[in-house]
Amino acid sequence: MKFRDDFVWGAATSSYQIEGAQYEGGKGLHLWDEYVKEKGKVFENQRGDVSCDHYHLFREDVKLMKELGLKAYRFSVDWTRIMPEGKGMVNEEGVAFYNALIDELVANDIEPYLTLFHWELPMELYKRGGWMNPKMPEWFAQYAAVIADRFSDRVKNFFTVNEPQCFVGLSFSEGVHAPWLQLPDRETILMSHNALKAHGRAVQELRAHAKQPLVVGYAPTSGIALPATDKPEDIEAARQAYFGIPQEGTWAWNTAWWSDPVIFGKYPEEFLVHFEKDLPKITDDDMKLISEPIDIYGQNIYLGYPVCMGEDGKPELLSRNTGYAKSASNWPMTPEALYWGPKFLYDRYKKPIFITENGLACHDWIHLDGKVHDPSRIDFTARYLGALKRAAQEADIRGYFAWSLMDNFEWAEGFGQRYGLVFVDFKTQKRIPKDSAYWYRDVIRTNGENL
Ligand code: BGC
Repeated sequence: MKFRDDFVWGAATSSYQIEGAQYEGGKGLHLWDEYVKEKGKVFENQRGDVSCDHYHLFREDVKLMKELGLKAYRFSVDWTRIMPEGKGMVNEEGVAFYNALIDELVANDIEPYLTLFHWELPMELYKRGGWMNPKMPEWFAQYAAVIADRFSDRVKNFFTVNEPQCFVGLSFSEGVHAPWLQLPDRETILMSHNALKAHGRAVQELRAHAKQPLVVGYAPTSGIALPATDKPEDIEAARQAYFGIPQEGTWAWNTAWWSDPVIFGKYPEEFLVHFEKDLPKITDDDMKLISEPIDIYGQNIYLGYPVCMGEDGKPELLSRNTGYAKSASNWPMTPEALYWGPKFLYDRYKKPIFITENGLACHDWIHLDGKVHDPSRIDFTARYLGALKRAAQEADIRGYFAWSLMDNFEWAEGFGQRYGLVFVDFKTQKRIPKDSAYWYRDVIRTNGENL
């Protein structure tokens, strides 16, 4: 068993989670800047104003990436740094920051993978209704055009949006992410339709303004349904559950609703029937736009849940074993998710797959010897990558991005959860690669042969 020779080994971050300098460099304000101020929403009322101060320390961070042997780096651009009002005026200082970052990556032989949107919805657009506004796809298209104009001479790989399940679902259905709202399905489904159209318009504009042939992808998420046994009926049940209407949580935790239209140009029939009364107007032109062809399919995969075929011939969710292994964020450790997830996705969508995020939160601290020992992260990642290696024998798997390069602002969990390969002391901004970072360096060096 092996990974492809050109397998892309990387790590990922996102702009608000690491950049800091939220009130500098001509940047506009986005949803998180504004709503993070609401008391009682984020762990200890923390904010991403400074975070890892990557805006000032990016050179040091790229140096670390180099030392850790990363071949690729997936980062996101903050829309409001480029266009403070979300549309119209371009902020040259913001462009200069990302130009310098990209130059630094290229100079160090680290391939940039740029995500256009990892949740910094410009406040000026939010005031106009944000994802509810039918103009959102055009505003996002304008932004995508600027991104391609300015960066695609050096950046070849792009992801449009990160986890629409979260920036629509967690933010507007469940109310656990900014702006902490719980809106009716009718409204969030409308947002989803506009977000998918925005994705399609971005693909078009990226290509129209590209300075070289681009590789364009999409990066959704959702838990993976895991067959309880190897019996064909349980595998079938898991597949049905994975692409069906979620049995737990809100509708937005859906794989097929967010991915079928992008790949097939069709929403899943089951969903159209189930949510009929909540659907917006959906035209053939919309579907054509949403399914503007992409080159690669990204998926953020963290965990799975066990499923078997029920006696009624429908998938049945099972409870987990008592005392199951879990991370510091209480997410279950389910390495098989990196086998079944990519396999189910590849069987259905037939696109080259990137794992655009995977990782875990651990209770990390600096030990008496001055180092950060994180054996759990090593064990977790070894298990998940082992499963991915198995999947890579059966599906076209092109790359893996560890979440995250460094500890950062973990949304509603503030700085209370550490996902990094690199430890960050948020007081001094000192970075210390954890044991897992050196272990991952060996994985990269051997192309996963040591797994
Ligand atoms: C998001 C990241 C986040 C990670 C861990 C993903 O849902 O894309 O921004 O930090 O999960 O919660």
